[in-house]
Amino acid sequence: MRAVDIIMKKRDGGELSREELAFIVDGYVSGEVPEYQVSSWLMAVFFRGMSFRETADLTDLMLRSGASMDLSGIAGPFVDKHSTGGVGDKVSLVLAPVVAACGVKVPMMSGRALGHTGGTLDKLESIPGYTTRLDEKRFREYIKRDGFAMTGQTDAIVPADKKLYSLRDVTATVESVPLITASILSKKVAEGAEALVFDVKSGPGAFMKTVPDAERLALSLVNTGKAMGKRIVGVITDMTEPLGKMVGNFFEVEESIDCLKGKGPADLMEVTYRLSAWMLVAAGLAVDVDSATRLCEEAVASGRAWDLFVRNVKTQGGDSDRMMSLYGNYRSAHVRALRAPTAGFIQSVDAFKIGLAGVYLGVGRNRTSDPVAPDVGFIFEKKKGSRVEAGDTVAMVYGKDAGSLDAAWDLVSGALSIGPARPASAPLIIKEISAL
Ligand code: URA
Repeated sequence: MRAVDIIMKKRDGGELSREELAFIVDGYVSGEVPEYQVSSWLMAVFFRGMSFRETADLTDLMLRSGASMDLSGIAGPFVDKHSTGGVGDKVSLVLAPVVAACGVKVPMMSGRALGHTGGTLDKLESIPGYTTRLDEKRFREYIKRDGFAMTGQTDAIVPADKKLYSLRDVTATVESVPLITASILSKKVAEGAEALVFDVKSGPGAFMKTVPDAERLALSLVNTGKAMGKRIVGVITDMTEPLGKMVGNFFEVEESIDCLKGKGPADLMEVTYRLSAWMLVAAGLAVDVDSATRLCEEAVASGRAWDLFVRNVKTQGGDSDRMMSLYGNYRSAHVRALRAPTAGFIQSVDAFKIGLAGVYLGVGRNRTSDPVAPDVGFIFEKKKGSRVEAGDTVAMVYGKDAGSLDAAWDLVSGALSIGPARPASAPLIIKEISAL
């Protein structure tokens, strides 16, 4: 077999056999197939797509490139949630303790900020002392004891994705439904969950900019996951505006604390409860999403979810007292107000521009090795639909230094649009696809 023939077949719209896909994936991991040929193959896949069978084979081959978590010996049910990436999306920090408080075990393996989207690991690591580098033994132990644990992807899990994702990132081949499906699902299947709930974001702040594209990705994740023996739900949610009022690493920890204390913003709570509820249904702990939502609300109202969150912070090395003393105070000295240029109603706050501006401010990163800052980002006082007068503060914007605020400012001010009439409200939960 030769890589060039496989590239040519895909370039001309052919369907690759499992053996041909293995030749590329295994060959890339072992170093036998060079990066320039894998890059060409990725671009051919980007333009020609993959059949359902090819996507399932690619996912399985990537999964088999490394180890899987062994959760045997721990009582389930094991369910995880994965978001395709957004801005202000701190749902995982709230959902994991809520769902664990209801009896689900959550083996959560998350990622870092990349491009305009935020990363759960960076948010958690802004809590002084908190570590997301857990070995398998500790990951297992914490899930067993606390009901959930939060870790990063280890080198042993899906090494093929580590290499392929980095290559996609620099070859403009990220936004491909089969490649995203195989990348996400291989990692999620490796972490050992029996059922998965996917939050497929749709809108300017998401990888999938339109609802039909998000639907294609959701269907691909659901169908491929089902073929791999998992119970799957795909929920398409809106990512036109940042979720909640805060964007930034510790800022989002603060907002998660508010949520767990019953004071979270309505949009963030709506998405969090919906995804949490599906996890309970997927776990078999509730018969439908409405009754499951009530169980999740009760986990917050009773304080059980908050207690579990604090317990997890301590378990993973975090200083919960220091976290609470930083609450409301952990703010960079470099701050500027985003003010309404005219009177009217806020039509939108563009999540993509806010996310990109966040990279300049120090919230996110361009490369996985770049550092991020804990005390920078956005605190919104007003969002879509708010009435403003000229000069009103819409958000306080914090940067790592004065230069970062200057560099971000065109994006920040360009994110805000104001018009004469109150905009129509759009649903946050756009569509749900269940294969339970
Ligand atoms: N997140 C992933 O883990 N992989 C992708 O391909 C896209 C988003």
